[in-house]
Amino acid sequence: MKIGLWHAVARSKDLRSKPLRVFFDDQSLVLFRTKEGVAALVDRCPHRFAELSKGRLVENTIECPYHGWRFASDGRCVDIPGSISLLPKCRVQRYNAIEAEGGIFLASGQPTSPPTVHPMQGQDIVMRVVKSETRSTLIDTAENILDAAHTHFTHKGLLRGLSRNRCRVQVKVTRGLDWAEAVYRGEDRQHGLASAILDGARTKGVGRYRRPGIAELEYWGPHGMVLATTFHLRKTTDGVVEGFGWLTAPRQFGLGFLKSLVFKPMFLYALEQDRRILRSTFDNSCGATRMIGPLDILRREIEGIEAGEMLVPGEQHYEMEL
Ligand code: FES
Ligand SMILES: [Fe+2]
Repeated sequence: MKIGLWHAVARSKDLRSKPLRVFFDDQSLVLFRTKEGVAALVDRCPHRFAELSKGRLVENTIECPYHGWRFASDGRCVDIPGSISLLPKCRVQRYNAIEAEGGIFLASGQPTSPPTVHPMQGQDIVMRVVKSETRSTLIDTAENILDAAHTHFTHKGLLRGLSRNRCRVQVKVTRGLDWAEAVYRGEDRQHGLASAILDGARTKGVGRYRRPGIAELEYWGPHGMVLATTFHLRKTTDGVVEGFGWLTAPRQFGLGFLKSLVFKPMFLYALEQDRRILRSTFDNSCGATRMIGPLDILRREIEGIEAGEMLVPGEQHYEMEL
C-alpha cells in the first residue's frame, strides 16, 4: 500500500454534528463524525451522484439526501430504505482521517505514524488554531511565512522596523532529506510592537520547512521555546492555498492565556498583510521567473522539497542584518 502523509483539511471545531465538505486530492470529500472517529468519503453517492455532504448523520452512518441510502465510515452501503432484497455491493471510496491537536488530517495513502502537528505537541501549552486562504502558490506562501527580510516592510512597526538599527545575525541552515531549517542568532530583541508586548529576551529564532507543506517558526528565550507558529499549507485549486495555523506557547512562560488573547488579533492582522502582498505578487507575476536574492535562504530548499526531491543533508552559514 502507498505510504501517505497527513494533510490538515479542517479545524476540529469546523466539524460538528453536520457533515462537512472539503477539497482534497483533487476531489470533494465529505467528513463526518462517527463513534469510531472522523470519517472521510468521496462526496458523491454512487447511486445518482448526489452530494453526501448535503445529507445527514443517522445511526453512525451518512444518509444520502436523494433516496436515503446510508453509508458507514468505511464507505460500505449499509441500508437502502424500502428495499427488501439483498443490498447491492457498493462502496464509496474512503480516505484515512485522524483528529489531532484541534485539527482534522487526511491522507491519500497509509501514513506510518500520526501527524507531527506543531513543535510543542504533548506539552502544557496554550494553543489557537486559525484557518486562512490566500491567492498564491504554495512555495511563495511557505517562503513568505519563513522569510525574515520582508518583515521590516510588509509588517513595518508590527513585527520589525520600529528601529532604524538592524542587528547583525548569524544564520545556520541545516538540511535533512525532506526538511530544512534556518536558525537565527544575534537578534536579542525584535523591534516591532508585537515583540514589545509579547516577547522577552530572544536567544534564537528558527524557521523550518518540512513535508508536506509545513512552514513553522519558533522563538526561543533563555528558558526554552516561548512561541511557535506552524502552518500546514495545501494547494486546493489553481492559485489558491489553504492554510491551518497553530499558534502555541507554553502555559507557564511568557505567553499565557491573556497574552494569547492579545497575540491572536496581532497575528491575524499580520496574516492579512501577508495575504495582501501574496495576492498582489501572484496577480502581478505574468508568468515571469522569480529571482533568488541573497537573503532568500530557504527558497531553494522549499522548491526542492515541493518538487518531491530528496535534499542533500548538510549545513551552511550566512550572516545578514535584521
Ligand atoms: S443518489 Fe444517493 S441514494 Fe440516490
Ligand atoms: Fe509576513
